[in-house]
Amino acid sequence: MSEKKLWGGRFKESTNELVEEFTESVSYDRRLAPFDIAGSIAHVKMLEKQGILKPEEAQKIIKGLNQVLKEIEEGRFQWRRELEDVHMNVEKRLTEIVGSVGGKLHTGRSRNDQVATDVRLYVRKEIEEIVELLKALRKAFWKQAKENLDVVMPGYTHLQIAQPVLYSHHMLAYYWMFKRDEERFKDTLKRVNVSPLGSAALAGTSYPLDREFTAKLLGFDGVTRNSMDAVSDRDFIAETIFNCAMVMMHLSRLSEELVLWSTEEFGFIELPDSFCTGSSIMPQKKNPDVSELTRGKTGRVYGDLIAILTVLKGLPLTYNRDLQEDKEPLFDAIDTVKLALKVNALIVEGMKPRKERMREQARKSFSLATDVADYLAKKGVPFREAHRIVGELVAYCLDRGKGLEDLSLEEFKQFSDKFEEDVLDLMSVEGSINSRNVIGGTAREQVEREIERIREEEGF
Ligand code: ARG
Repeated sequence: MSEKKLWGGRFKESTNELVEEFTESVSYDRRLAPFDIAGSIAHVKMLEKQGILKPEEAQKIIKGLNQVLKEIEEGRFQWRRELEDVHMNVEKRLTEIVGSVGGKLHTGRSRNDQVATDVRLYVRKEIEEIVELLKALRKAFWKQAKENLDVVMPGYTHLQIAQPVLYSHHMLAYYWMFKRDEERFKDTLKRVNVSPLGSAALAGTSYPLDREFTAKLLGFDGVTRNSMDAVSDRDFIAETIFNCAMVMMHLSRLSEELVLWSTEEFGFIELPDSFCTGSSIMPQKKNPDVSELTRGKTGRVYGDLIAILTVLKGLPLTYNRDLQEDKEPLFDAIDTVKLALKVNALIVEGMKPRKERMREQARKSFSLATDVADYLAKKGVPFREAHRIVGELVAYCLDRGKGLEDLSLEEFKQFSDKFEEDVLDLMSVEGSINSRNVIGGTAREQVEREIERIREEEGF
């Protein structure tokens, strides 16, 4: 049993200890303290401007809040579980420092609009950081693309060799995934950056607050327009976690490729030693743990998304204590995605394509078959028929253990009299790649153009 709560006026018994343990959030929401204090300072300045607090009172409270912040930053702050959450820990300490005037801070405010404000400020800052990290990752892909324009590789569908492509083209495919991820976060920010302060518990407040003033002080773009929605809306959290889940999904696809590519069977890339680990029993091993863990951690972020959606689905208006469960999934998703973005940017920067091996595989599995069919089609053979003829050519080669590139002109002619000398020139990986000269295609000219466009747009 512990001392009286800040809200303890109407209670005769003190809180059961197990209930304290069950209901507390300070063990994890303390990271909101800087935002909580910034929100309180803005609120006090507004109360002063509106004549609700005297200038000396406001000064005292602000000075006290800054001292609390300093104590927290210096690790001297005594966090107390019996005070439930970050808000009441800060307020209690403020009152210890400045005396009873500290009790005026909460005028015209509730923890309901306070916590909504704090989390919005926190998410805004994290989104800004994630946007920067996404850009650094995109730059790593762009650099790989720019510096390895001569590297050819097989492109896959169904994980079967399909057509040759430039390694640079493959790298820029990832560039685009992380570009869209950035756009999603920036779009979410529009809905995050709105001030709920002044909504109070749920219905607004009878004090003459200037909501727009606090919003401006805190760098919000505007104020929420419905107090009931404002204290219970956590859409912006669900959206943010969804955006994190999408980034993790993209990183997980990359990881899967890097795991495959670094096997002996593929042998497409060399990962930096400093990002791999060895085995305690097999001395020859170099394992791609970072990629594996990125793939694995995607699961937790998906879990965070399902957690928040499930917390929200049964809630009647307005604030319900269930909403306290919004924070751990949010923090976990953001922490995980930030770390994953950092470490994967370094991997992408440090990996080295194994050019010879990729080239060797690029011509395998009849990867030029489409080119031969297109050749016939361009000479007037209907594409479906051309497709059949090349299918027969492939079967002929398979029977003899040959590739298309091993065939003589005479052999080609056995299948169609449309084949001429120039079909032999077609049998090169570069020729195939450069023939795909449409916008967004893998021809070197197109890829070089994209690299330049990206440089201009991103300022790389
Ligand atoms: N710790 C609470 C939360 O995170 C703060 C709001 C509490 N409000 C209340 N009416 N009990 O949701």
